[in-house]
Amino acid sequence: MINKKKKIYLDYAATTPLDKAILQTMLPYLTFKYGNSMSIHSFGMEASLAVEAARKDLANFLNSKAEEIFFTSGATESNNIVIKGTVDAYYKKFGKNAPKPHIVTTKFEHHSVLNAFKTIEKEDLAEVSYINISKDGFIDFNELKSKIKKPNTVLVSVVYVNSEIGTVQPIKKIGNLIKTMRKDNIYPLFHTDATQAVNYFSCDVTDLGIDFLSFSSHKIYGPKGIGALYLKKNVPLKKLFDGGEQENGFRPGTHNVAGIVGFAKAIEFVIKNKNKDFVRLKTLRNFFIDKVLEEILDSNLNGSKENRSPNNCNFRFKNIEGESLVLMLDQIGIACSTGSACSSSSLQASHVLLSIGLRPEEAHSSLRITLGRDTTKQDIEFTIEKLKQSIEKLRKLSGSVLTDYFKKYKGN
Ligand SMILES: Cc1ncc(COP(=O)(O)O)c(C=O)c1O
Repeated sequence: MINKKKKIYLDYAATTPLDKAILQTMLPYLTFKYGNSMSIHSFGMEASLAVEAARKDLANFLNSKAEEIFFTSGATESNNIVIKGTVDAYYKKFGKNAPKPHIVTTKFEHHSVLNAFKTIEKEDLAEVSYINISKDGFIDFNELKSKIKKPNTVLVSVVYVNSEIGTVQPIKKIGNLIKTMRKDNIYPLFHTDATQAVNYFSCDVTDLGIDFLSFSSHKIYGPKGIGALYLKKNVPLKKLFDGGEQENGFRPGTHNVAGIVGFAKAIEFVIKNKNKDFVRLKTLRNFFIDKVLEEILDSNLNGSKENRSPNNCNFRFKNIEGESLVLMLDQIGIACSTGSACSSSSLQASHVLLSIGLRPEEAHSSLRITLGRDTTKQDIEFTIEKLKQSIEKLRKLSGSVLTDYFKKYKGN
């Protein structure tokens, strides 16, 4: 029997809890191993050795070289460094008066990618293409191909796993396409935001044909405020920040040593748990999706059920306001969301849901539930029951509000 006082967290795409064993590995670096990694004394050496060991662990995970890993504060920063730095590098190489470069992304990227593209577009620094998304949640590959063909294309950025609907994009296929189109040229370069992919999918950059990859620790049970960027050796990128020599000058500023150590530990656990987590969560997720679609009238799944992150469910419920449902479930002790945490305070309909062709009112009736390592079958069964009850209540409420409105309207 489930303890109704226990809170159920179903928002793992927003962030994950910090694993206790990871916290243990971080604690010495928050207490007595407090050296600055750039100092030449023993405290500094201790910190520097920890940072370099972590860099090797991340490189091993990505099948890259250690010197190709750069620590940042998170995926938002990694994405900005790549996108803005690539355009800057182009102008640095070819001069201010060079023909405008062309950069390509999709309509359903995380805001840290999409808004970086929009800024460049607003500043008139590049020609920008936003690739359409199918109603199932996948990029239009032929459109992508035709856009990449433009001779001035310098960057293609495609999210690996979408943060709201969890659909998985054909990264290897895009990587291969770009390789064949690049010929002897260095351009176009290929970036993927793999923030939501790291837990479950291969991030072997050599195999996938990737030049830049962004990821973040707090999505994989590590600490917040630490992320990384894989930057392929010799790829042109202009530095955005001025400062010291940390991260080869690409990301100056004192290392977050405890965060870096925790991030590496989180990667170690991803490697260990990946297959087990994938199979267990996919089974739970499918059980959840099937039950909801079967038992809740007028419910639909947003995005394909196939090729979807094993932890992601995103539903829409007719005549339901997603925010109200999130708040009602929160009162019961179930935490979920309507979409990306970064834009959940915005009243605008999700750009991801609009990109798959939903009408604004359909987008507003959506709910994202994302599972994680601590999610149990009991949690899911309890959530289904509470979801059913909450939707029934909200529909009755909206029904009576409408009835009152029509009575009043008729009365007038
Ligand atoms: C796909 C994707 N990219 C980037 C980010 C931003 O990551 P961070 O919080 O590390 O800046 C997120 C977080 O929600 C995300 O899901």
